[in-house]
Formats: sequence, structure tokens, C-alpha cells
Amino acid sequence: MQIRDAKIEDAEAACLVMSRSIAELCVADHKNDAAILARWLGNKTPEIFIACIRQPENSLLVATEDDNILAVGSVTDAGQITLNYVSPDARFRGISRALLRALETRAVERGVKRCTLTSTETALRFYQANGYAADGPPVGNFGTSSGYPMSKSLTQE
Ligand SMILES: CC(C)(COP(=O)(O)OP(=O)(O)OC[C@H]1O[C@@H](n2cnc3c(N)ncnc32)[C@H](O)[C@@H]1OP(=O)(O)O)[C@@H](O)C(=O)NCCC(=O)NCCS
Repeated sequence: MQIRDAKIEDAEAACLVMSRSIAELCVADHKNDAAILARWLGNKTPEIFIACIRQPENSLLVATEDDNILAVGSVTDAGQITLNYVSPDARFRGISRALLRALETRAVERGVKRCTLTSTETALRFYQANGYAADGPPVGNFGTSSGYPMSKSLTQE
């Protein structure tokens, strides 16, 4: 498994991984509600993915194996982790953990001292196990009521 910066030619496969991750793994969040799914999946398009690659203040990373994309993550230069989606075919193999480490490493390289994110219900235990703590009351995300603001100091590692 390799983690690298995303390329434009990754866009279609990466969007498929993100869409499957949301639809198949995040059922506790969207509860198969068609309107929530439509909003959540609506911005996971190749055009938006390519626009994200071109934003200099954004790092878009992919985890790959044998040229297949297994996970997609992104972090801004302000330390906000905005994407972290693993393929349902690659769940619980340590890939999200490795991708999260890579996002945090990139943030540190950009001078960030604290990473922030809004966890899904699905990933809450994962982020807690990786050092993130609650950072405010739950918020709505794409129409769900299960977005959990969390943060982690990067200065103690
Ligand atoms: C939960 C999720 C993020 C874990 O990522 P992963 O690549 O499958 O898992 P990893 O192997 O890197 O990490 C495993 C850890 O996840 C946690 N975990 C294990 N089972 C879990 C479960 N059923 N539900 C949630 N977390 C679980 C544990 O902390 C585990 O660590 P451990 O093996 O030391 O106990 C992923 O499976 C998932 O469902 N992603 C959906 C997309 C999503 O919600 N992304 C977050 C957007 S903010």
C-alpha cells in the first residue's frame, strides 16, 4: 500500500471509492435517506475532485495498491481534515489509520499545530482511538444529525 498526492487521472476511481464508502459504510449516518445521500454524494464528482487537486491550500491524498485506489483523504493548510473515505473492499486493514497519519504529517509540514474534523457516527470510535477528542456539540452534515466536531493537537507527537 502506498499513499501519495492525488493526480487528475485518479478522479473517477477516487469518486467511486468515496461514493461507495458513504453509501455502503455510513448507513448509521444517512440511514439510507435518499435526500441525505443525494446531498452527501452530490459533491463527489470528478470535476470537484480535480478542482480540489488544483487548490494550493489543500492536500488531496490517495492510498493505492497495485494501481487501485483504496482510500481518499484531504487536509487543508489550516488543519481541517475534509475527506477520509476508505473503500468497503479495504475496510479494517489499517488503511484509514495510515491515511490519517499521512494527512497529519502533511499538516505538520504546513505548520499546523491542531487538526480538526467533523466525524461521522460511523468513524467516531476510529477517531477516538487515533487521539481525537470532542470539540463542540454535534452538528448536522448533509442533513444528518450525526456530525461530531473533533480535534487533536499535533504538537505532542
Ligand atoms: C471506521 C473507518 C473510518 C475505519 O477505517 P478503516 O480503514 O476501515 O480501519 P483501520 O484499520 O484504519 O482502523 C481500525 C480502527 O477502526 C476502529 N474500528 C474498528 N471496528 C470499528 C467499527 N465497527 N466501527 C467503527 N470503528 C471501528 C478501531 O479503532 C480500529 O482500531 P483497532 O483495530 O486498533 O481496534 C472506516 O471503516 C469507515 O467506515 N469509513 C467510512 C467513511 C467515514 O465515515 N469516514 C470518516 C469521514 S469523517
